Amino acid sequence: MADKMWAGRFSKEVDKTVNAFNSSIAFDGRMYRHDIHGSMAHAQMLGDCGIISKEDSEKLIEGLKGILADIDSGALEFDMTAEDIHMFIEAELTKRLGDVGKRLHTSRSRNDQVALDIRLYLRDEIKEVSALVLKLGETLCDMALEHLDTVMPGYTHLQRAQPITFGHHLMAYAQMLVRDLGRLKDTAGRMNYCPLGSGALAGTTYPINRKQTAELLGFTAPVANSLDGVSDRDFCVELNCALSILMTHLSRFSEEIIMWCSWEFKFIDLDDAYATGSSIMPQKKNPDITELIRGKTGRVNGDLMTLLSMLKGLPLAYNKDMQEDKEAIFDAVDNVKLCLETFIPMIRTMKVNKDKMRNAAAGGFINATDCADYLVKKGMPFRDAYKITGRLVAQCIDTGMTLETLPIEEYRKMSELFGEDVYRAISLETCVGERKSEGGPAPESVMKQIELTRKQLEAYHE
Ligand code: ARG
Repeated sequence: MADKMWAGRFSKEVDKTVNAFNSSIAFDGRMYRHDIHGSMAHAQMLGDCGIISKEDSEKLIEGLKGILADIDSGALEFDMTAEDIHMFIEAELTKRLGDVGKRLHTSRSRNDQVALDIRLYLRDEIKEVSALVLKLGETLCDMALEHLDTVMPGYTHLQRAQPITFGHHLMAYAQMLVRDLGRLKDTAGRMNYCPLGSGALAGTTYPINRKQTAELLGFTAPVANSLDGVSDRDFCVELNCALSILMTHLSRFSEEIIMWCSWEFKFIDLDDAYATGSSIMPQKKNPDITELIRGKTGRVNGDLMTLLSMLKGLPLAYNKDMQEDKEAIFDAVDNVKLCLETFIPMIRTMKVNKDKMRNAAAGGFINATDCADYLVKKGMPFRDAYKITGRLVAQCIDTGMTLETLPIEEYRKMSELFGEDVYRAISLETCVGERKSEGGPAPESVMKQIELTRKQLEAYHE
């Protein structure tokens, strides 16, 4: 076991089990690059402010570069008995540089160091997640364009309600993703303040330059209050919130895909590469990916609860409880990326059964509102038209008819206002095509939504 840096205060070595319990290197090791970049900026600032010599500052930076290269190449492996990634890198630096290495931690604490590393790490992750969300949004726009005329039933209460198009349906999700991108961007913006220089909690007596480290590391400014700098994990909570909402969108979409590929719907067929079979039932083709996404949404929500519960009772400033932040937020980010990476090609390759969608739209009296609207356009008040149409639907149900097949005489028995043109008014083409209101399902309306959404997405390109 590596010697503890804080061993001076202690008369015994730490118990093995305690050391393993305490150590976070197994999960914070993934921040090594960010930790090293943070240390390089700190070393640079120490040299520029005359807190250490320029020569030592340069040696530290070179030493850190060497460690980074060696971890990247695999030449240097983590010591799993180290307390965390910060201690491991500092110990390695001292091993390589001797006394100079011991100067790196001047006017710094692991408390501001870890707060910095998570921000740097998550800043990169947000970029990756956003790029995937953007790709999904663009995919949906492309698919919607191919399905401007693909009529399907729109549902409320999972009952057929009014006709829409598949393109219209897809664009609803594209709009959710635009908001997700906005949330991720807001989170990144609010998070982009540098805690370095907060020290353990109470700043430092050294003449440090917090502005310089903030700038070197691409932050907007230093965090304003040193206690807040080391105690704040709002950005983890906020990011997890944004990820939970994003997962909620993917999960609702997944739920629909699961229904749509059932034999009861058969609106879509998943590509064989994105479905799985059963070990016993030879006929089965299961939508496992979408079910896993639905399941993982619970997991990402769980991560959010972990973070909120971990923080709620903590007095300022740093408490070891906060070490629990990383596994939760890393898990959320990792799983969201996995979900997006699989979901995008899965929906891109799925086969859309236009006939099935159309047949479903042709049943269930999905054009009843349009029948009522027909009478309204002939001068009848909507409530009266609604009542008459309701009676017509009931009559159709009793006699096994549809509004399309009901003879005109039957219509005219209910109201003299009905003429032969009613059949055109209640045809699916008219029902969808005339819903030209802004945001509606008519092809020209959806076209405008695609144009708008593409413009909104464009703003998130790097
Ligand atoms: N491994 C710790 C964490 O993840 C780093 C900070 C430790 N600070 C301390 N005072 N023990 O939170």
